[in-house]
Amino acid sequence: MTRTTINELSNHVGQEVQLDGWVYNSRSGGKLGFLMLRDGTGIAQCVLSKSDVGDDAFALFGRLTQESSVTVTGTVSADERAPGGYEIHAQSLSVTQMAEEYPISPKEHGTAFLMDHRHLWLRSRRQHAIMLVRHEIIKACRDFFDSNGFILMDTPIITPNAVEGTTTLFGLNYFDRFVYLTQSGQLYSEAAAAAFRKVYCFGPTFRAEKSKTRRHLTEFWMVEPEMAYCDLEENIHWAEEMVAFMVGRVLESRREQLDILERDTAPLEGLKTPFPRLSYTEAVDVLKQADVDFEWGGDFGGGDETIISEKYDQPLVVHRFPAAIKAFYMKLDADDERLALGMDILAPEGYGEIIGGGQREDDYALLLKRLKEANLPEDKYQWYLDLRRYGSVPHSGFGMGIERAVAWICGLPHVRETIPFPRMLNRVEP
Ligand code: 4AD
Ligand code: MG
Repeated sequence: MTRTTINELSNHVGQEVQLDGWVYNSRSGGKLGFLMLRDGTGIAQCVLSKSDVGDDAFALFGRLTQESSVTVTGTVSADERAPGGYEIHAQSLSVTQMAEEYPISPKEHGTAFLMDHRHLWLRSRRQHAIMLVRHEIIKACRDFFDSNGFILMDTPIITPNAVEGTTTLFGLNYFDRFVYLTQSGQLYSEAAAAAFRKVYCFGPTFRAEKSKTRRHLTEFWMVEPEMAYCDLEENIHWAEEMVAFMVGRVLESRREQLDILERDTAPLEGLKTPFPRLSYTEAVDVLKQADVDFEWGGDFGGGDETIISEKYDQPLVVHRFPAAIKAFYMKLDADDERLALGMDILAPEGYGEIIGGGQREDDYALLLKRLKEANLPEDKYQWYLDLRRYGSVPHSGFGMGIERAVAWICGLPHVRETIPFPRMLNRVEP
């Protein structure tokens, strides 16, 4: 007899197999028992008849509780009506552990309750589907960069440097010094780009976000490519191609999961590059036309982004922001020194910013000036300034927050469901 998993059942039709898993659901109708078995790879229905499994096993079936761990043996048949398309006609049933009363019952639970039970909630069909899409998105990003000549450069999590402003830093005692958890691997990726030309880092990043929104986590994962000899235009091109590749891959490989999530895939299928573009200044005009009280020079909030991108059924590239609201490292626009050569990509359907990036300041004196204006400690950035002392070149890059991308592609209202164990202002457990 073959021990197999539910996702492999199609290869075993007509054969006797062993499945190990957990009780998702069970109901009995007289001499027949119906067991929905969940094994981590899928859910399949096992039908038990008293005459096949015997009195003891049938009595055991009757006592099964939700999420008990069990082993079933039986014959696989193809059945269109069965969930997943296959059914097991059981020959035997045994129990590894009889579960205590499971806190997550099929009835509706509030979000706080489910979040408190995240370690168990992950087993549900919907959370399972989201995590498979997340897995695919991460794999797609890696495949995209790996197949386009980018080298993976892991950047440190412990760092003396602020990247994205000083207000969202998590501080940490490091022996007799004070350091931070990284907000972005970018500065290190810039060093790596001068060594390897095209690189990417992919890791957890941390921001002490004090606001409670649908889009902010305090710990999130970011994929950040960085390219030497690359200007803003080419940077936008890489970002568009990565997004299109990622969405294409999810549509190709994770349709079943998108179905479970009841995601309307039409907007994803309609994606095409190049994406529409709007300068920051044009975007401000859009807000003004929509009667939003917004002054040129301000930063867009989530609501503003929704209004700006509303007219488009594609991701929207917004570029050339006021330098004053952007990080110190952004290169100023030679045509208008008030502007920095930054770019954001706003996902359609109101999901807002998923990508932020731009061209970096490559001039030593200008970078030093910006560093001072931002009140950053010069001595801690000497290594970064070195990159402008020794063979400085135009270079660019961007970062995509994985959780924002997952929320958009899955069609979720909040990022809290996009990561196995979310960290937010009021949540560090479980
Ligand atoms: O726009 P951000 O701050 O850009 C950077 O960090 C650059 N250093 C990246 C680069 O050029 N290499 O962040 C990039 C992306 C955002 O577009 C968003 O998707 C995500 O990171 N992000 C967050 N996701 C979840 N929770 C938060 N608190 C996030 N902050 C940023
Ligand atoms: Mg940003």
